[in-house]
Amino acid sequence: MSLQSILCNINTFNKVMIPFYQPRSFIPVKGKGCYLWDQQGKKYIDFSGGIAVLPFGHAHPKLNKILHIQSKKLWHISNIFTNEPALMLAKKLVDHSFADCVFFSNSGAEANEAALKIALYYASHYYDNTKNNIVSFNNSFHGRTIFTVSVGGQSKYSSVFNSNIYNKNIKHISFNNIQHIEKMINIKTCAVIIELIQGEGGVISADKSFIKKLRELCNIYDVLLIFDEVQTGIGRTGTLFAYEQYEVIPDILTTAKSLGGGFPISAVLTTNKISKILYPGLHGSTYGGNPLACSIAIVILDMINNRKLLNLIKKKFLFFSKKINKINKLYNFCEEIRGKGLLLGILLKKNCYFSITEIMYYAEKEGLILLSAGSNVIRLAPPLNISYKDINFGLYLFEKSLQKLFFKKLLQNIYLYTLIMLLY
Ligand SMILES: Cc1ncc(COP(=O)(O)O)c(C=O)c1O
Repeated sequence: MSLQSILCNINTFNKVMIPFYQPRSFIPVKGKGCYLWDQQGKKYIDFSGGIAVLPFGHAHPKLNKILHIQSKKLWHISNIFTNEPALMLAKKLVDHSFADCVFFSNSGAEANEAALKIALYYASHYYDNTKNNIVSFNNSFHGRTIFTVSVGGQSKYSSVFNSNIYNKNIKHISFNNIQHIEKMINIKTCAVIIELIQGEGGVISADKSFIKKLRELCNIYDVLLIFDEVQTGIGRTGTLFAYEQYEVIPDILTTAKSLGGGFPISAVLTTNKISKILYPGLHGSTYGGNPLACSIAIVILDMINNRKLLNLIKKKFLFFSKKINKINKLYNFCEEIRGKGLLLGILLKKNCYFSITEIMYYAEKEGLILLSAGSNVIRLAPPLNISYKDINFGLYLFEKSLQKLFFKKLLQNIYLYTLIMLLY
């Protein structure tokens, strides 16, 4: 073990880090494809994909290569200049989406913040300051800045910050409820922001009819419709953007995560109709669109924008579902399999024999890394190029961990039962 590994452990984390996170007890030090190794050399198959960030897993040779090439040319110049990789990337995003133009920043929250600022500005430019309501959905997640937690529909992330002061113009309404949007969207609304699949909220897909109705209402009241594709964008659901499967075009789309494959970058995509009123200085970011991040994103986009790969992503959803249903016949834990492409949610049964924490802990002991979404959904977001062999292996470990957990619980119950019998 290296000196660094001896010095860095969870106790170090507890001493020197602000406790905003409670990381797993092991520390990964190396990755390759969908595998990770920890300080002790234990190997894990990673179904979390850096929380839906790694479309080609860890340390993909093509991405390593471009990182090295660009690192020798130009790292950062700020936005007092433009740069070739940023222009190339913007052109590619425009060529393969509804959008005419792009703004780059560094994270999903920043992209959403920019999108909301654009919508507020658009409304005040064409109307007046009373067209300032933002409609968002219960359980939604749009980031962790003070504005994006306030817009997000999970009060656990915002209420402790006395966020009510930001909230007065934000309306949180029920997801997939057409009657509710008909009541809540009106001439005072300037933006509707929605995830086509609520990721953090439990991997819940929006209904096509609901999204179509949203578009209709936004057209009637000249409201900007923002699709937050931070998690669903860049191939995750089996199309380059999830909106393609809804046949509805947004006014603004935000994306991040898979775009940089682990290198921080996000993008806001919009149309000329909106951008023509925006001007230099209205918004900005020091690092946004830096050449390193953009060079990587160009290669990722080229690799993902491939019909064969995108179709395979859809097929792998069915493959995962079939296998999970088979395991469910043995352990009866799953109520529903949710999601699209390689963003999957396994909703646990209400009276499931196992808790989500137990499942994740036992899976980790077997060498499988899972994610959760909310309190009762296991979320899977493996690399988009994961092989059938690796899916089989990961799900074999999943089954093995449920088996061990099942026997542990059985033994506990037998022990308890015997104890009660002895006492009486
Ligand atoms: C839909 C969605 N929007 C926004 C964000 C925030 O992105 P970031 O953590 O990069 O700021 C996330 C992160 O999980 C997300 O899933």
